Amino acid sequence: MTLITEQNHSWVNGSPWQSQRQLTVHNPTNEEPIATVSIADNEAAAQALNAAQTCFDTLKQRPAQQRAEVLMRWYQLILDNEAVLAELMTKEQGKPLREAKAEVKYAAGFVQWFAEEARRAYGEVIPSHSSSHQLTTIKQPVGVVLGITPWNFPLAMITRKVAPAYAAGCPFILKPSEETPLSAIALVKLALQAGFEDGAFQVLVTDDAEALVAPLLASPVVRKLTFTGSTLVGKKLLAHSADTVKRASMELGGNAPFIVFSSADVEEAVAGLMVAKFRNGGQTCVAANRVFVHQDRQEAFTDALIEAVDKLVVGDGLESDTDIGPLINAKAKDKAQHLIEDALAQGAQRVYQGAAGAGHFMAPTILLDVTEKMDIYHQEIFAPVVSMIVFDDEQGVIRQANAVHEGLAAYFYSQDVSQIHRVAMALEYGMVGINEGAISNPVAPFGGVKQSGLGREGAKEGLQEFLETKYLCQKFLE
Ligand code: SIN
Repeated sequence: MTLITEQNHSWVNGSPWQSQRQLTVHNPTNEEPIATVSIADNEAAAQALNAAQTCFDTLKQRPAQQRAEVLMRWYQLILDNEAVLAELMTKEQGKPLREAKAEVKYAAGFVQWFAEEARRAYGEVIPSHSSSHQLTTIKQPVGVVLGITPWNFPLAMITRKVAPAYAAGCPFILKPSEETPLSAIALVKLALQAGFEDGAFQVLVTDDAEALVAPLLASPVVRKLTFTGSTLVGKKLLAHSADTVKRASMELGGNAPFIVFSSADVEEAVAGLMVAKFRNGGQTCVAANRVFVHQDRQEAFTDALIEAVDKLVVGDGLESDTDIGPLINAKAKDKAQHLIEDALAQGAQRVYQGAAGAGHFMAPTILLDVTEKMDIYHQEIFAPVVSMIVFDDEQGVIRQANAVHEGLAAYFYSQDVSQIHRVAMALEYGMVGINEGAISNPVAPFGGVKQSGLGREGAKEGLQEFLETKYLCQKFLE
């Protein structure tokens, strides 16, 4: 099957959606058009809702074993198409091919995990309050789900939501990012090939998210919203879901501290930061956003970091030696440049700036002496820019690390066992990397506290987000 051609479609009820209006997808490396996609209008959304509602009746009756088998086939098809999916991702998103291949495996990993978890949606028998009653709980699918996914991980952010929904028995309507709809379309084609029912996974591509999403959020048919994106948009979506009291999972923005304590192994800490900061060119919600370095280690750490960053090659993701591709669009680059300029104007020092071509490419940059007054301290940088702060005491740095609205990921490097325990307990974050910069994994619960979100994805928790608990109180017959 050809996954993507020059002209592609939104997918409604197992069929391509025909429309006069087309969205053109561009390659962020050179801004050249790659392909077009038919835009889903409100009629498409209404038909998708009907198809999902009808499908729910079938899906919820289907034994978990069968849903697991369909997911296993989807998993295998994704892996079988690794080369095509990775190249497509690099073309529409810009990330280096090596990272795109890793993402295909990461995305497939969620499908495999939830294929296995599909058969483990256990209820409970509750020790009863009376000898004449049996109290049990059973797990049932939430119902029709609306998912809204970002461009930074065009495959994995979709499978992380669709696979647990299907495992639980929930039909899924997806609005992918308009920057990267092609990966979503490739995924839906593979899902249908694997045996997904027509209404079980539908993809609505649009360039006007608000107009498409508003009626879906207003509909009582949609019982659950799952979103990955900015905190600002997440708050609006939550407000719009309030009227129909939808279940919601929110993977929102981060502002990750990365703390290098005086006992840290500097070489390890630099290696960890290279992943935590530069994966996907810094365009991840879990990217190290504020790098706190103990004053005793600052010189050694900065020198080693500059040496490592200086080796990074910025360029076309399709070239084999590329480490960092372009930023997703001009707006992203303008924002990162503003953050650097604001920091420099307020006293930060630029201790390193690499090389990058024109267009959306951004030179890796290291800033020292960043302070809380600067925008870069508070906003997600989403670019290959390291923002460093020097500290001298543990309590102070924990206070600083926690004194933000976000609470997604945090990292720290220390070889002091007591300190590791204290700091791990004290950080107000949903995920903490301890002497480790790569924490994401399908088997682990991904998610944040405070304004970084609601709920968890992946792991056993990920399935529960799509299940309701029903309590049964049964009085024995005389
Ligand atoms: C994200 O940036 O939203 C996800 C990153 C990950 O899964 O590691």
